Parts: sequence; structure tokens; C-alpha cells
Amino acid sequence: MSVWAVLAAAGRGERLGSDRPKAFARLGGRPLLAESLERLEASAWIDRIVIAAPPEWEEPCILVAEEIGAGKVGSVVTGGAARSESVRLALAEVPDDAAAVLVHDAARPLLPDAVIERVLAPLPEGWDGVVPFVTVPDTVKKVEHDRVVETLPRDELVAVQTPQAFIPSVLRDALSGEVSSASDCSSLVEARGGRVKVVEGDRRLLKVTDAEDLALVESWLA
Ligand code: CTP
Ligand code: MG
Repeated sequence: MSVWAVLAAAGRGERLGSDRPKAFARLGGRPLLAESLERLEASAWIDRIVIAAPPEWEEPCILVAEEIGAGKVGSVVTGGAARSESVRLALAEVPDDAAAVLVHDAARPLLPDAVIERVLAPLPEGWDGVVPFVTVPDTVKKVEHDRVVETLPRDELVAVQTPQAFIPSVLRDALSGEVSSASDCSSLVEARGGRVKVVEGDRRLLKVTDAEDLALVESWLA
């Protein structure tokens, strides 16, 4: 039984404002995508990898995989208009008998193997999904335009990252409906009544959104 990784790399990176998709922004002299791909390739937990590429960037994705010797990359698919569509398109490459699928954002380059292990290890205990969290240091409020509507109880809140691990059939079902607005896969599984466990994440899994994030992640590179 094999574990498949889906690397969601098909976004445009509009907030980063580069002349190319975010997955190809430079990080440590390489395309950003190379960092997480290399870590997935090196992980003993991962057997096969599918990359969701930005439209017209499929070939460059294959080249990055070849350059770092990522032999686990079985296919590169063209991503969709929204993240969830990109994941759905990549998931079509994952066979039904796969034991688990790990969905990761290429926008989170620093992927510790310990987090891959923490999300995959509990899955056979009967969870539909396992996701990494970090605590929320700030007070979180709900707002409508410029007015505060509610202050949420901070001790009940966590921020959730990727990689997220799922039972493949569960994720396939969750992605089968109207999914375009979902910002992560877990929310779709939860919406169908799935049981999702949280495990400790890692602050280094920061998602690169803007140029400041990119500089910060670059400063953390070993
Ligand atoms: N993603 C994807 N397909 C999309 C949109 C996003 O595979 N249609 C991926 C991105 O490549 C990224 C992850 O989902 O790795 C998280 O998305 P986000 O940080 O929003 O990246 P972008 O959509 O590229 O950035 P922006 O929203 O600023 O355009
Ligand atoms: Mg986006």
C-alpha cells in the first residue's frame, strides 16, 4: 500500500507580485517549488508524488523534478482555477488502492519530515484526515467591514497548515461537489462529517504569500 503526495503548485501568486507563478519565484537560488519537492522526495513516508502545475508551466515543473532527481514524481497535471480544483485534478492520478494521500502547498517550502510523520502516522487509527496546527498568538475577531462583530475565544482556536493527510476515497468524495471557495482540503472533509485530527505543526511551515514572507523563509534556509 502506497502513500501519495499531491503538491499544489498551480497558483498564480498574485499577492507576491512576481513576473512568474509563485512556485517559480526564486528561493535560495532555485524555484520555490524545488524546496518542498526535494523534501517530499527525501521522505521515507512518501512513495509517489503528483504535481499540480500552473497552466503552461508543466514542462518547467518536470525540469525542476529532473534537476533535483525527484524520481517519485509520477505525473505533472495542469492545475485548475482554484486550489481545490487543482487538488482534485491531481488526485485523479492517485490510484484507488493508495493507503493515504498527503496534500501539500508548494507555497510552504520548509517542510519538516517530522510533520509528514505526525500527519500520516495516526491515519490508520480511524481518522478521515489529519492536519497540522499552530496556536494563534493574537486575539481573533470577526468583523464586518470596519466594525468588530465578535471576539472569538482564543483557547478554542488554532491555525491550520499543510501537509494534510487523508484517506484517498474520503478526499475524493469531499472534492466531488462545489468546492471552489474552500481554502483547505480539511474543511471539505469536515463539511461531510469526516473525522479530522489535529497534530502539532511547525512555524517554519509559513505560507509564502508576499515578498516579506519570501525573505523570511529565505532567512530560515539552512
Ligand atoms: N494553488 C493551486 N491552484 C490554484 C490556486 C492555488 O495549486 N488554482 C496552490 C498554490 O500554488 C499554493 C497553495 O495552493 O501552493 C496555496 O495558495 P496561495 O498561497 O493562495 O497561492 P496563490 O494562489 O498562488 O497566490 P495568490 O492567492 O496570491 O494568487
Ligand atoms: Mg490563492
